[in-house]
Amino acid sequence: MEAAQKRTVYAFLRTAARSVWGVQPGVFDRTPEFADDPAPETEAQGSPAAPEPPAEAFPQGPARTAPADTIAGIDREIASCRACTLCRTRTRTVGGTGALRPLVLVVGEAPGREEDEQGLPFVGRAGKLLDDMLRAISLSRETNCFIANTIKCRPPDNRDPLPEEEAACFHFLERQIAALKPRAILASGRVALGRLVPASEGITRSHGQFFDYRGIPLMPVFHPSFLLRDPSQKAAAWGDLKKFRALLRELEPGYEQTWSAGR
Ligand code: URA
Repeated sequence: MEAAQKRTVYAFLRTAARSVWGVQPGVFDRTPEFADDPAPETEAQGSPAAPEPPAEAFPQGPARTAPADTIAGIDREIASCRACTLCRTRTRTVGGTGALRPLVLVVGEAPGREEDEQGLPFVGRAGKLLDDMLRAISLSRETNCFIANTIKCRPPDNRDPLPEEEAACFHFLERQIAALKPRAILASGRVALGRLVPASEGITRSHGQFFDYRGIPLMPVFHPSFLLRDPSQKAAAWGDLKKFRALLRELEPGYEQTWSAGR
């Protein structure tokens, strides 16, 4: 069985565990790493073992490795995903966009109407504010950021994603992070934070603090849609961004100069 099929079965069983056995959200949230099964043996069962191949047949390393995920490959899988009912109402899937070796990965919630139409994340009003926030600390999707969402399809009427939709989709984000290897992550809003740092105390208490996602420093920040609704929180958001910029200056001294030269 291929790794992608195993992930789909895992997501299905997790959903069944919740609805049939009442297993609480939070349990089985983190999808394990799956690898493709080794290719089947060509020898018929019970037939004599094949002779050992000559030593030079496997010059280096392990005989078989799982093929590495690429952003393009994950995008193709997202585009054909039917693991939850959002596939029935979406116009386009929204995998993500930006630099493929990013300094920063920005993770939002889910596509809205304009994102669903264009197949790109954060292109509406909230997206304009996000771009302004990033530019203020010398980041942009054109140069040093990748922007993705926790959920890759639009929930109808922009309702909150359901736990089973989040659970079915989360392996895509996990695999994007593994493929992109960002130096730091900005988790924008409650949904991204809840999935990436399930033990956190929610966005209101946690924004501006540093967490760890599999060895990558992560900061939760207010979602730009929230800031559009409550502009009085913009000062706090700016304080958080300055803390995040201080981290980036430590991780990659001179990144601001590289950014302004590359614009
Ligand atoms: N809000 C999000 O969280 N993501 C988008 O892509 C757009 C709006």
